[in-house]
Amino acid sequence: MFGLDGPEALAADSLGLIAGIGDSVAAFDEARAAAEAVELPWPADAVTDVAILGMGGSAIAADLVTGAYRERLRLPITTVRDYYIPGWIGEGTLVILSSYSGGTEETLTAASQVLERNSLAVAVTSGGKLGSFYAAEGVPVIPVVPGMQPRAALLRMMVPLLVMLDRHALVPSLDSDMEEARATLTAAIAAYGPDVPEAENPAKQLARSLASRVPLVWGAELTTPIAIRWKGQFNENAKIPAYASALPELDHNEICGFAGMPAPLSELAQLVMLRDPRHHRQVQRRFDLTRELVEPHVAGVLSIEAEGQSALARMLDLVILGDYASLYLALLRGVDPGPVEMIERLKERLAQTGFGRSADPSA
Ligand code: PA5
Repeated sequence: MFGLDGPEALAADSLGLIAGIGDSVAAFDEARAAAEAVELPWPADAVTDVAILGMGGSAIAADLVTGAYRERLRLPITTVRDYYIPGWIGEGTLVILSSYSGGTEETLTAASQVLERNSLAVAVTSGGKLGSFYAAEGVPVIPVVPGMQPRAALLRMMVPLLVMLDRHALVPSLDSDMEEARATLTAAIAAYGPDVPEAENPAKQLARSLASRVPLVWGAELTTPIAIRWKGQFNENAKIPAYASALPELDHNEICGFAGMPAPLSELAQLVMLRDPRHHRQVQRRFDLTRELVEPHVAGVLSIEAEGQSALARMLDLVILGDYASLYLALLRGVDPGPVEMIERLKERLAQTGFGRSADPSA
């Protein structure tokens, strides 16, 4: 197994994803400024509901934002990960097309339908067909710097969503949350970054404890989308299987499967519980009681608690911890965390044929 300390440890990270997290505060500020600068040709009170359309690294940004504000949202917000958009999307719907590359076929297919519905559409993208198609149609486009891996551009995709919600008064004023979020990012980089040796670094220690294991990441309420982010980062960065579930729902089905888990799976399964101090009291009890029932059937259980005042800060603390841990896990495995060959191969194969009546008409 490979080491995690010293500059040579980072050599396998060909795209510099680990070093890139160090730019998070600048990314946060740039994304905020870009979203605030975009002119919106409708009044804030025109919005009746919100849909955020995207896939993968660009969709989880939406889940995280709505997860952080879920109890305080003034209108319903839905993340849509599909080619077809739901029937309820209409003229009053604020539709945010979130695609880092601007070339994702599900999002492009949906983009044309959104125009047919005369919705209040905005795109967040580094360009691609989505950027050019929407700009040509006069749709506001929030620009994102190109050349990154979508999952590494999380803050650049997420902050514009926050700003859009704020500009439409769909969340309480964000000013103090934004300030705490910046401080949280700084503290998380100082605690989990590559310069902190493994003996003092919770992210490196977490990666070590997950080596040769299959993470089953559990969240609840605020931490539900964070569990999905962790799962995705373990998949894409460390190139390992990982799964995410949420309480209380998993107590109504998934819990039964542990009793019949085959021994080879039991020996690999590492439960990771992402907990929040503000969980509903019964959710706290469920984490404890479910752990008691499941622990004999898995190789290990880790419990990690979010820290911070605002929900946004607690969320970012856990997101950065998971991002670093997944990248360190790649290094431990001797794997380059950057390229996602499986995704690229699949996209190339899919692109060999057109993708439907609603695909970008300018293609
Ligand atoms: O992390 C990734 O590369 C993927 O999950 C992408 O985010 C996903 O394929 C969608 O692409 P994009 O974010 O460019 O729309």
